[in-house]
Amino acid sequence: MERVEKFLKDAEVYYLATVDGDRPRVRPFGTAHIFEGKLYIQTGKVKDVSKQIHANPNVEVCAFKNGEWLRVAGELVEDDRLEAKQSMLDAYPSLQGMYSADDGNTEVFYFKDATATFSSFAKAPEVVKF
Ligand SMILES: Cc1cc2nc3c(=O)[nH]c(=O)nc-3n(C[C@H](O)[C@H](O)[C@H](O)COP(=O)(O)O)c2cc1C
Repeated sequence: MERVEKFLKDAEVYYLATVDGDRPRVRPFGTAHIFEGKLYIQTGKVKDVSKQIHANPNVEVCAFKNGEWLRVAGELVEDDRLEAKQSMLDAYPSLQGMYSADDGNTEVFYFKDATATFSSFAKAPEVVKF
């Protein structure tokens, strides 16, 4: 899981795909943070992406870096605890101008039953489950 977090951070941007009815939706994301042994991402409840995750928590992310790409597929579980949100905001001080742990908008989700696949054209895919 640490390798997945590092790849996402080093890539600086990954693309988060959600399901919206019968359509895929995708957008750039950047937050990736391990808290209490789980990999979290952050968003805001006002966003469509949040509404889509609540309606269907099955998501996939993809990032590319140095000839290698990573896909992480899994279920997102909301963690409404202030300490989980604060840990994320502490890891991303740049978010603190827009979000605070108790603003009623900030939300964090962790991956459950995740399958991470590291791929490249040079070698066989490597799969990590967490
Ligand atoms: C590099 C980059 C990183 C971003 N990271 C996040 C993030 O971690 N969480 C988030 O909610 N929005 C993030 N955004 C903004 C979302 O992409 C944007 O709000 C998007 O419109 C949300 O999707 P939606 O319109 O389907 O709700 C990021 C944008 C960029 C360009």
